[in-house]
Amino acid sequence: MVTKTVDLRSDTVTKPTEAMRAAMANAEVDDDVLTYDPTAFRLETEMAKVMGKEAALFVPSGTMGNLISVLVHCDIRGSEVILGDNSHIHIYENGGISTIGGVHPKTVKNNRDGTMDIDLIEAAIRDPKGELVYPTTRLICLENSQANCGGRCLSVEYTDRVGEIAKQHGLKLHIDGARIFNAAVALGVPVHRLVQAADSVSVCLSKGLGAPVGSVIVGSRDFVNKARRLRKTLGGGMRQVGILCAAALVALQENVGKLEGDHKKAKMLAEGLNQIEGLKVDLDIVETNIVYFDVIEGLKMNAESLCKNMEEHGVLVMPESSSRIRVVLHHQISVSDVQYTLSCFQQALTGVPEENGN
Ligand SMILES: Cc1ncc(COP(=O)(O)O)c(C=O)c1O
Repeated sequence: MVTKTVDLRSDTVTKPTEAMRAAMANAEVDDDVLTYDPTAFRLETEMAKVMGKEAALFVPSGTMGNLISVLVHCDIRGSEVILGDNSHIHIYENGGISTIGGVHPKTVKNNRDGTMDIDLIEAAIRDPKGELVYPTTRLICLENSQANCGGRCLSVEYTDRVGEIAKQHGLKLHIDGARIFNAAVALGVPVHRLVQAADSVSVCLSKGLGAPVGSVIVGSRDFVNKARRLRKTLGGGMRQVGILCAAALVALQENVGKLEGDHKKAKMLAEGLNQIEGLKVDLDIVETNIVYFDVIEGLKMNAESLCKNMEEHGVLVMPESSSRIRVVLHHQISVSDVQYTLSCFQQALTGVPEENGN
């Protein structure tokens, strides 16, 4: 019988800590749609300060944070946004920027390191002289860390350069910073510096930071005022939302400091997996808390059956395709969980338990 669960499906699976639950139970609350919730106000004030922006707004999810941000920047019909072909906004958000916002996506190839080539971004900007037939470019979106590329970090220099291009062409820059704290910690730069060039950032509270629900979007006061109206339009205005914001404040205080450890554990797991016959990890690209690895063809198991086998041992991981698996580290995974996971993979593929596994 399996007694242990090691949940590596995502960093969204964390359970609220005792401190979060206590903060939620005791949260001072009021009606946030009427802008009177003191705990939401505290979280937004704190997040705006940490991110170096004028104002912030709590939203129910990262998807809504991105959608609202794109819609604020692209508020004229016929707007176009330049974004990565491997970006979360483009792939996993139901095409909401088009279906709800009427915003046209212009994709640029994401490189393996999560960047888009600067010259390709410039080439994607529409020539205003062609406005009779072209949509109008109004926004560039980056994603940092870039999840689908393996949690890769975009540097300050790269982000600044994209910001300069946006400015030169009168465009806005939005960052999907679902895991921006992971990127800042891995790069060793303050988060406000990393997003300095951005007009808006969407920051997830319920990923590496470990809060149960929510995201915060940050930007200028004008951006946030417009975002607040759109949040209401989309049904994301909530009443005594301080209950959720209280947990997020604990997450901000207690969990940013744990991200470095998560990245170390991701490296440890990646190195261990790479030593198991039949698995292949590109160790150079493991920069934060996400690890992708390949299951070599011709083994007795493919990625899907291997994930099923792991589940029987309490290790939850997600197949990405028939030959690729993703694991994501978070603050509720210990070093001994990593060792247990490695021993389960080893046993599944070779029938021999790993020496140091427990
Ligand atoms: C990079 C990135 N952006 C945005 C989101 C959307 O966040 P949510 O699931 O809160 O809507 C995710 C979710 O996994 C993500 O990984």
